[in-house]
Amino acid sequence: MKIIKAKDYKDLSRKAANLISAQVIMKPDCVLGLATGSSPVGTYEQLVEWYENGDLDFGDVTSVNLDEYVGLAKEHEQSYYYFMHKHLFDYVNINPERTFLPDGTNLNKEEECARYEEVIRSVGGVDLQLLGLGHNGHIGFNEPGDVFEKGTHCVTLSERTIEANKRFFASADEVPKQAYSMGIRTIMMAKKILVVVSGEDKAEAVKNAFFGPVTPQVPGSILQMHPDVTVVADEAALSKCDLA
Ligand code: GLP
Repeated sequence: MKIIKAKDYKDLSRKAANLISAQVIMKPDCVLGLATGSSPVGTYEQLVEWYENGDLDFGDVTSVNLDEYVGLAKEHEQSYYYFMHKHLFDYVNINPERTFLPDGTNLNKEEECARYEEVIRSVGGVDLQLLGLGHNGHIGFNEPGDVFEKGTHCVTLSERTIEANKRFFASADEVPKQAYSMGIRTIMMAKKILVVVSGEDKAEAVKNAFFGPVTPQVPGSILQMHPDVTVVADEAALSKCDLA
């Protein structure tokens, strides 16, 4: 695991965007695993800027997203489909037919999870998976539990996650209670993983996930077992880790 220390959120976003750019330049028809949440927003902004400058070409890129709320229509402003369009897809030349997310409107959970696993398999697997880290150490929507969830599955969100995400909704009651998420096995099968983490409120999660024991109680800790993980974190997020 490689840990890159960034000064602040802007620096973190540039560094992460640089790593994604390198992937796209090295393999123009790569498969990017994409994430939502506030952590990667700056990274997407930077990628859009470089695309506009003519330095990046997404024409042959395929994307698969980590997760999606169950029950939200694509047009809902808090759906991850909407998020991806608002922050990236609408501003770069990625082929909309090559962008994949779990379908939150398919309420047949078994069918949707199997379909999404098949989508990931059929595009040849993920070359570079971008991840954020939840306050409780979750990745995607893999919440703390007794076992590491394997493939794409339907998750019942923890109170803490609902609490953290309610800022985007009118009230906590409106936050969907379930989501489809790539599982730990799905994530671990990516060839490379890039984690972006920012802010002092994530310092404990960073310490637990990357410097603590590997346990399903801290789902992100499994990343310590992956052969090619880069964590880009700002000073605040690394403030509880002894990097010397
Ligand atoms: C959400 C998402 C995760 C994300 C996490 C952290 O629950 N499902 O993919 O990494 O929260 O979000 P943020 O980056 O806004 O702190």
